[in-house]
Parts: sequence; C-alpha cells; structure tokens
Amino acid sequence: MIKPVFEIPTGVFDEKVTAVKHYTDRLFKFRISRPKSFRFRSGEFVMIGLPNAEKPIFRAYSIASPSWDEELEFYSIKVDDGPLTQHLQKININDTVIMRRKSTGTLVNDALLPGKRLYLFSTGTGIAPFASLIRDPETYEKFETVVLCHTCRSTPELRYGQDLIDFAKGDPLVGEMASNQLIHYQSVTRDEFDVRGRITELLESGKIFSDLNLPKICKSQDRGMICGSMEMIRDTKKILESFGLSEGANNNPATYVVERAFVD
Ligand code: A2P
Repeated sequence: MIKPVFEIPTGVFDEKVTAVKHYTDRLFKFRISRPKSFRFRSGEFVMIGLPNAEKPIFRAYSIASPSWDEELEFYSIKVDDGPLTQHLQKININDTVIMRRKSTGTLVNDALLPGKRLYLFSTGTGIAPFASLIRDPETYEKFETVVLCHTCRSTPELRYGQDLIDFAKGDPLVGEMASNQLIHYQSVTRDEFDVRGRITELLESGKIFSDLNLPKICKSQDRGMICGSMEMIRDTKKILESFGLSEGANNNPATYVVERAFVD
C-alpha cells in the first residue's frame, strides 16, 4: 500500500484509487475519485504522481474516462525501472494518487474540422484518450462514423480495447450511437491474429480500407487522431499527409492531430 509519507504538495488534487485491473505484465488500468471542481475535455491529459517523495515525479496521462464520468480512469504501461510506473503499478484501492489541476491536449474534437469519418489511430496505451472520446456523445454528433484502430504486439494486449468497446456499446448514454457508428479495427504485430501488421503497413497496403469496405482516406471527408510512440506518430503522420490531411491544433483546427502516448 502506498501511503502519503510526504506532505501533499500545494496546488494538486489528492485522490483515492477506486479500482485497479492488471491486463498483462506490461499493462494495467486504474480509476481514482474525481475532484468536484475538475473539468476537462474528452481526449485531454493531466499530470499524475504519487505522494512518495518530497518532490514527487509527475507524468502526463491521458484521461481514459469521458468528461461526464464521476471517476477518472487511466491506462498505464508498467516499466520496471520507470521513474513513476515502478511504483504506480503497485497501487491498490484507497491509495492516494496526486494530480495537477489543469488538463490539456490536442486530441480533442475542437481541434478537428468537421468531417464524415473520424479515424483514431492508436498503439499500446495510446488507446487511452480514445477510450474517453468514444464514450462522449459529442464525438458521434460530430462524425457519422468513428473508426478506432488499435495495434499491439500480442493479443492479450488488445483486451483493454475489447472491454472498452463492449462497455461503450452497452452504455445507456452512448450505447446506441456506438453500436451504429463505431468500428473497432485491431491488429497484432508479434502474435497470431486475424489482422497482422503495423497500422502504417495496413494503411499503405490499403488492407484496412478493403477489410472495412471504406474508401481510401481523403481530406474532404476523413479526419484523424494519432496516439502512440514517437516513431509510430512520425510514420503515421507521413501517411496521413500523403493522403492530403494536415496537422491541426486547438487554436488552428485542421484534418488530423497527434499526441505522444505515455512511455515510462
Ligand atoms: P512492432 O511489434 O512491429 O514493433 P509498443 O508496445 O512497443 O509501444 O508497440 C505497440 C505497437 O506499435 C506494436 O504493435 C509495434 O509494432 C507498433 N509500432 C512500433 N513502432 C511503430 C511505428 N513506427 N509505426 C507503426 N507502428 C509501430
């Protein structure tokens, strides 16, 4: 149990862990209580830490729960010598997690121009901001079709995304919209699975479009969000740009946006 052995720094929220679920030896999710005054836009991230040092280490975590949820959910990697995750992976219910007060980020609906289809490209824990967006009704109001792409090394790593889709489709608020408008496209790179290969390969070969019976991405109809490692972002960006899409930001909405997934 991680007890607050040091004073909670000023200017941060201290919240209680309400649930923890381990998926693999590399991945787990946890939920914390939500401060009453905390507001965020679905898809944003916040700085998270533990009260285990006088000057605690904070890392950026995408909020995986939607903006209407009473708790906050996070999906994390576990790194044995990761400055934060070596400790964070050991948290239990009722432990304290500290959180800076302001959320931010570019993977938000406002940073994209209106379009017909929204593609959400993720690898590993990069699915977290999209877990928030696919449970937000605004996403389905803005886009006719939402394609959540998730690529992992192995099939057990897809589980979080699979649970998420089941949950979204059964949800009283977005269930009907998710059932009609959401497509889940998964692939695996180091294991046997129906669809194999990196998202970059599936886009370049056109396999994703033939599998889903959708036209190739074009700037007049399609919008994209990318969340993964630096390399994944770099390579996926290049492909989206070859399809004619251009990068947007909060103050300059365009046809795709990116954010780096948390790494250690
Ligand atoms: P691969 O197994 O070929 O490295 P990680 O868990 O290391 O973050 O990787 C998650 C997924 O992202 C893996 O399936 C990995 O494929 C894939 N990946 C890694 N680098 C890239 C890249 N540059 N472009 C697209 N996908 C990538």
